[in-house]
Amino acid sequence: MAKYVINGGKKLSGEVKISGAKNATVGSLAASILTEEDVIIENIPDVWDINVMLDAIKVLGADVQRIDRNTVKINAKNANLTELSDFNLGKMRATYYFVGALLARHHKSKVIFPGGCNIGARPINLHLKGFTALGAKAYEENGFIITEADNLKGANIYLDIESVGATVNIMLAAVLSNGVTTIENVAKEPHVVDIANFLNSMGANIKGAGTDVIRIKGVKKLHGTTYSVIPDQIEAGTYMALAAITKSDITIKNIIPKHLESISAKLIDIGNQVIVYDEALRVIGSDVILPTNIKTMPYPGFPTDMQPQLACTLTLANGKSKIEESIFENRFKYVEEIKKMGAIISIDNTTIIIEGVKNLDGRKVVATDLRAGAALVLACLAANGVSEIDKIEYVERGYEDFVNKLKNLGADIERKEG
Ligand code: UD1
Repeated sequence: MAKYVINGGKKLSGEVKISGAKNATVGSLAASILTEEDVIIENIPDVWDINVMLDAIKVLGADVQRIDRNTVKINAKNANLTELSDFNLGKMRATYYFVGALLARHHKSKVIFPGGCNIGARPINLHLKGFTALGAKAYEENGFIITEADNLKGANIYLDIESVGATVNIMLAAVLSNGVTTIENVAKEPHVVDIANFLNSMGANIKGAGTDVIRIKGVKKLHGTTYSVIPDQIEAGTYMALAAITKSDITIKNIIPKHLESISAKLIDIGNQVIVYDEALRVIGSDVILPTNIKTMPYPGFPTDMQPQLACTLTLANGKSKIEESIFENRFKYVEEIKKMGAIISIDNTTIIIEGVKNLDGRKVVATDLRAGAALVLACLAANGVSEIDKIEYVERGYEDFVNKLKNLGADIERKEG
């Protein structure tokens, strides 16, 4: 098992280029099986989750060619299989998108139940509710999600919660159905909009992505496309938090500043300077980190996927901060790890109270999930002395070239096997 060894406490500086959005790419990859023509997707991040999705597309019978590290060409003409049961797929979340895509293309699917980061119960009832409304039988059985339909017909669907996964999955299932589907109370995250744009570039008729209501007019057929994925909002946010926690001056390039507004606002609140360019942001970390209160919310609110990174930053604030996690009920497992480094944090159900301390100390810690792992990397880079982070495979699921990008900013970090 690999680990990171970090010698912290150094100021960093320079530029970092953000990769394509993992959570957009996973949806677009599943969508690529909806046509028999060539689909070229550019700016895909080279991370574990994406590589597992590509393997799954091959398992379904599609031809997958990696044109270069960040570009893939998929031809799903021969993608005739409808079952995915590989063990790795069960370890990640986004495999649920194959359910919607297979249902649209073959009117049936049997896909291993999604895993992903252990941050709460993460039910899929809203996905199933959507498929059922479209006329499918959709249920969980023996660790699989199973769907089957004679015909898919447009329907009006209201999501009780603004779920990213359910919004995208219902979109995928509905694009080739008969008639019009309206999904209300949808997620508005940038990756939801990007997947809708990707589908529209294949000839789908989706309107309203980015608002509360998405309207999908079913089309008979989709065609090939060449599409470039948007930059990763959370990867960018992680480097922004890095500037804040290490009190450094970092320019984050290849981003869409609009997607980062809630994160920028919080970083400014706690004393940092954020300078916005057309496709870049510069964060100048403040010598004094101010305390604040945060509540995670669906987009355009503060993202739950940035909660651990900001929590770690606030461990070094000069006062008491409060973070309420309103999306996932079990997203504070990293707290025990950061406490080993000297942080003072108490957990009250879905809220944490952080009493700022002057310094964190290098320690051996364990990544508990993807974003928590990244947050611990930030904490270790800010801490005095040497740290080791175990279970970094979590981090490698979502951050392309993390070690090299950090080294380019002047960080003392090594990846070691064993
Ligand atoms: C996606 C992201 C994840 C991010 C999350 C919230 C991907 C692959 N993952 O996860 O990184 O943290 O959005 O921005 O894009 N819920 C239900 N029933 C459902 C579906 C969801 O109750 O059928 C609940 C969840 O338990 C959670 C909330 O809705 O409390 C939001 O979850 P959702 O947006 O669906 O998250 P994911 O798609 O799992």
